[in-house]
Amino acid sequence: MAVAVSAEALRKRYPGSAEHALDGFDLSVPSGTVHGLLGPNGAGKTTAVRILATLLRADGGRATIDGYDVATQASDVRRRIGLVGQYAAVDEILDGRRNLVMFGRLFHLSPSDARQRADDLLARFDLTDAARRPVAKYSGGMRRRLDLAVSMILAPAVLFLDEPTTGLDPRGRAEVWDAVRALVADGTTVLLTTQYLDEADQLADRISVLAVRSDGGARTGGVPERGGGRVVAEGTPDELRARIGGDRIDLVVRHASDLPKAAALVERVAGTTADVDEATRRVAAPVRDRMDALAAVVHGLQHDGIDAEDLSVRRPTLDEVFLQLTDVEVPA
Ligand SMILES: Nc1ncnc2c1ncn2[C@@H]1O[C@H](COP(=O)(O)OP(=O)(O)OP(=O)(O)O)[C@@H](O)[C@H]1O
Ligand SMILES: [Mg+2]
Repeated sequence: MAVAVSAEALRKRYPGSAEHALDGFDLSVPSGTVHGLLGPNGAGKTTAVRILATLLRADGGRATIDGYDVATQASDVRRRIGLVGQYAAVDEILDGRRNLVMFGRLFHLSPSDARQRADDLLARFDLTDAARRPVAKYSGGMRRRLDLAVSMILAPAVLFLDEPTTGLDPRGRAEVWDAVRALVADGTTVLLTTQYLDEADQLADRISVLAVRSDGGARTGGVPERGGGRVVAEGTPDELRARIGGDRIDLVVRHASDLPKAAALVERVAGTTADVDEATRRVAAPVRDRMDALAAVVHGLQHDGIDAEDLSVRRPTLDEVFLQLTDVEVPA
């Protein structure tokens, strides 16, 4: 399959900054697929997107879009890409349709082509009813769909979406997800950055997890410094979930003296090492099948005579996912 987006060993350090924003960033996205770039604040997601979109120069490494080098063939690259930034650029006072027509004109469409394109895109992103309303009165989800529509005026082969749903409520996020799925069905290649595992899960064929590295305090003698975005895990959502271990079971016992028995029980059910926190009398471990695990623990509590205060199965928090996948102490 043709590679739409490729990056090899990209490096970037902003002037005046001690740390690399990107340090050995690799990426390969086949045409017609969605790739999720998942990472916490400051991991370098926006920096990577800006380099790939020719808005920023890398200090080292190489990147191509449809085979065109972002540094030396920037105008060829620009003809093939669209970008929806983390902070949107549409005009609040104009209505949705006027925004689209204005951008179409900026992109050198004739007046009639710009109007035609605006109407097509309004229909496609389910904004026809809101076409004449000022953007200031749009919901967050409508705003983002308008951003998407603007980015699609020139029908780019590769679309960069930088945190398309940050700040949206669940309904707005679902609307944007549907819009992205529609684009992909048309063959657009999408590189999407997000801080949300579930979003990458919903949309992406493959995911790269970008970590903020800690140097373990090597330079400062103890205080870890942060820096250097680098991919620490890559795979399909299922592959990554398998590495994370899916849901987690959480058992809190009433008496600290029960902790060893509780840990043994949870480890037997989970088939892996449990985290034991003495202070909160909590035992936690990743489990594969939530209902089976819950039933087995309930049964074990009675059988082993353990007095439980609380028992739950929950999704791993994003912190746990990131901690698990980005548990890298980089030696000096
Ligand atoms: N213009 C800039 N000048 C100096 N440092 C910058 C600049 N932009 C970003 N950085 C730094 O580079 C690192 C990566 O930032 P970047 O914006 O790429 O992260 P991000 O993953 O997009 O984060 P977020 O989730 O907050 O959007 C951070 O340490 C950030 O402080
Ligand atoms: Mg960003």
